[in-house]
Amino acid sequence: MKENVASMIVFLLLLFLNIRLLKGQSPPGKPFIFKCRSPEKETFTCWWRPGADGGLPTNYTLTYHKEGETITHECPDYKTGGPNSCYFSKKHTSIWTIYIITVNATNQMGSSVSDPRYVDVTYIVEPDPPVNLTLEVKHPEDRKPYLWVKWLPPTLVDVRSGWLTLQYEIRLKPEKAAEWETHFAGQQTQFKILSLYPGQKYLVQVRCKPDHGFWSVWSPESSIQIPNGSSKLGTHHNKLNAYIPAKITRQRRLHPAAFLNANPITAQR
Ligand SMILES: *[C@@H]1O[C@H](CO)[C@@H](O)[C@H](O)[C@H]1NC(C)=O
Ligand SMILES: *[C@@H]1O[C@H](CO)[C@@H](O)[C@H](O)[C@H]1NC(C)=O
Ligand SMILES: *[C@@H]1O[C@H](CO)[C@@H](O)[C@H](O)[C@H]1NC(C)=O
Ligand SMILES: *[C@@H]1O[C@H](CO)[C@@H](O)[C@H](O)[C@H]1NC(C)=O
Repeated sequence: MKENVASMIVFLLLLFLNIRLLKGQSPPGKPFIFKCRSPEKETFTCWWRPGADGGLPTNYTLTYHKEGETITHECPDYKTGGPNSCYFSKKHTSIWTIYIITVNATNQMGSSVSDPRYVDVTYIVEPDPPVNLTLEVKHPEDRKPYLWVKWLPPTLVDVRSGWLTLQYEIRLKPEKAAEWETHFAGQQTQFKILSLYPGQKYLVQVRCKPDHGFWSVWSPESSIQIPNGSSKLGTHHNKLNAYIPAKITRQRRLHPAAFLNANPITAQR
């Protein structure tokens, strides 16, 4: 009799489990915190990817504690950063502090916790791209025209107080060219491009990076038409360089002056 009851219980348990499995229900898979980013070293956001779906409604809880402290806090704001995110406002962001962050996924069948993510805000800064990129062709007297590129730091970043120091990179190419030409601009927010293919439309972008963080994405493209060159020879060679690379060598031999244009795009700060 006892045996019967025991096997009955086992049977029922298995049946219950089977029904759960048939319905595809299980505890949720382990979530994964895939990114934490601060746009200006004053606030930050972390995002996670849910693990395997347990087939049931799942709640996610992000908790953190600061290294050296025992108090655990829950995420102060699940909304601002979009789905599966936690936003830490200025009030909740301290620098020179390591945050130890985990996400707990829970449904009726159980729970699973992500691996911890260690975050030091100083090292996760990825600014927005620079803004107000402007292009202008300058025509100095008796010199070749050049392209003057200017921009402003991203709006959120406080560069005036030196809270964050940004370095810039610009890249440009004739509209139809495949390859970008990249120039490092240091901390300046302007750059001169001295030698260009005349008569071409150029696309230009700029991006920025703080000392310890990551490059921003490239700003939206700005474009400008470079006027046709004044010197016929220069124009000719530039066009050859641009479109018929195989002939450059012969041109160089014929016209030593072409060496000056061998690297058609040169730049100076
Ligand atoms: C995850 O959440 C569940 C439900 O609130 C709780 O029982 C479990 O202890 C939590 N796990 C961790 C590691 O915090
Ligand atoms: C998820 O959260 C809601 C609202 O707090 C609660 O009513 C529900 O019981 C939770 N579900 C689980 C599986 O923990
Ligand atoms: C930057 O561009 C925006 C939008 O075009 C404009 O409103 C703003 O005044 C510009 N800022 C500066 C400093 O030029
Ligand atoms: C400038 O280039 C365009 C296109 O290549 C051409 O149609 C035009 O005639 C040129 N203008 C001058 C003044 O050379």
